[in-house]
Amino acid sequence: MKVISDPNQANLVDRSLAAVWHPCTQMKHHESFPLVAITKGKGPWLYDEQGNALLDCISSWWTNLFGHSNPRINQAITQQLEKIEHVMLAGFTHQPVVALSEKLAALTKGNLGHIFYASDGASAVEIALKMSHHFWQLNGKPQKKKFVCLENGYHGETLGALAVTDVAIFREAYRSLLQDVFTVASPDARKAKADENAEDVARQAAKEVEELFAQEHEHIAAIIVEPLVQCAGQMAMHSPEYLRLVKDLCDRYEIHMIADEIAVGCGRSGKFFACEHAEIWPDFLTLSKGISGGYLPLSLCMTTEKIYRSFYQDQTKQGFLHSHSYTGNPLACAAALACLEIFDTEYVLEKNIDRSEDLANAFSWAKLDSRIEHWRQQGMILAFDVKQTALKNSNTFPREMFAQCLNEGVLIRPIGNTIYVMPPYVLSSKEAEQMGQSVQTALNQVLHD
Ligand SMILES: Cc1ncc(COP(=O)(O)O)c(C=O)c1O
Repeated sequence: MKVISDPNQANLVDRSLAAVWHPCTQMKHHESFPLVAITKGKGPWLYDEQGNALLDCISSWWTNLFGHSNPRINQAITQQLEKIEHVMLAGFTHQPVVALSEKLAALTKGNLGHIFYASDGASAVEIALKMSHHFWQLNGKPQKKKFVCLENGYHGETLGALAVTDVAIFREAYRSLLQDVFTVASPDARKAKADENAEDVARQAAKEVEELFAQEHEHIAAIIVEPLVQCAGQMAMHSPEYLRLVKDLCDRYEIHMIADEIAVGCGRSGKFFACEHAEIWPDFLTLSKGISGGYLPLSLCMTTEKIYRSFYQDQTKQGFLHSHSYTGNPLACAAALACLEIFDTEYVLEKNIDRSEDLANAFSWAKLDSRIEHWRQQGMILAFDVKQTALKNSNTFPREMFAQCLNEGVLIRPIGNTIYVMPPYVLSSKEAEQMGQSVQTALNQVLHD
């Protein structure tokens, strides 16, 4: 590790490596793998210190919906900045948080009409878990305090969210700190045998949920799922049938359903909420990432009238006392409102039908490549797996592919042997094509003997 004696003489990357502890990173790997200093962005493009352009194929960790430096979102934040940058949301309210809450509630047709805010995705998950448990206490069922999560699911890395996450690499070191949960099979469509389809896998997985609920429902508060795509779990996709079946079981056994749409919400799946594909509304729905267009930290947990009413009591302690300093930050809410306006006025969901076709065309080569399996797509998420037999080293493949893609001018971060793209909703057909070609070139180089 370099010691920086004079910051004015050193470049940004060296200074960063000396002073910044980067997330989701073994810092030592940066001895041989690049760290990129970004100085500006425009649309789906990022620019590094040397002015090299990089196509942001993963929307900067799935947050950026309408491109970098979007004029409409920029303007909304700037205008809000002139009014009020932040005020605490306990005892106070403001126009952006009210308007955003009303708009989101309307998008669920009033089914999830009460909205609690936080800043990051994991905190929204904590809120859903705590609200569910607290609801059962308030309703005379304090023994309902266990959570059910899915094999391969990811819900964030604070201790409560990590307890319901089943991705070993994030959990292992903290296992002894985490509460016990029930873990049920993932409905991952890749499990389908030769004579089966995604619905068969969904039904088998739901059967396991039914057996668990039948036995343990008196102790279970909620089940948490990522509707349609387990994103951090290698973009494992499943049939909406699973969501319908689980929702029925939740109703039958008095168990809450938490739909974590932090990654798949905000149009990513092809509809604004992924749950709409199954025509269900859960008891809790969490959003973050794309809701502010990738501009400012904002997360939220939406819930029903029934749950809200249970907390509406005379005694303070029966309220939901959870709080974060930046809850409902006006600048973040203004950015989110601008995003919802863009959805409305620029017909984003309709245009994304064509954009997702562009993605499919750009990666059609991968369907024919014998080194690749499980090509799959859900709306604006496209993924495929490189066969283990094609990999030289499965541990270093994600980093090597990331580095090679940088050389090709595209930002891609494989998860294990899964390559995926999740671009902003401003990608042109030409840019999609360029993305597909660059990823193919990079893959050929990485897999080449
Ligand atoms: C489905 C899901 N839930 C929760 C989270 C956690 O969000 P954050 O990283 O903002 O805490 C993520 C992050 O990737 C996610 O994909």
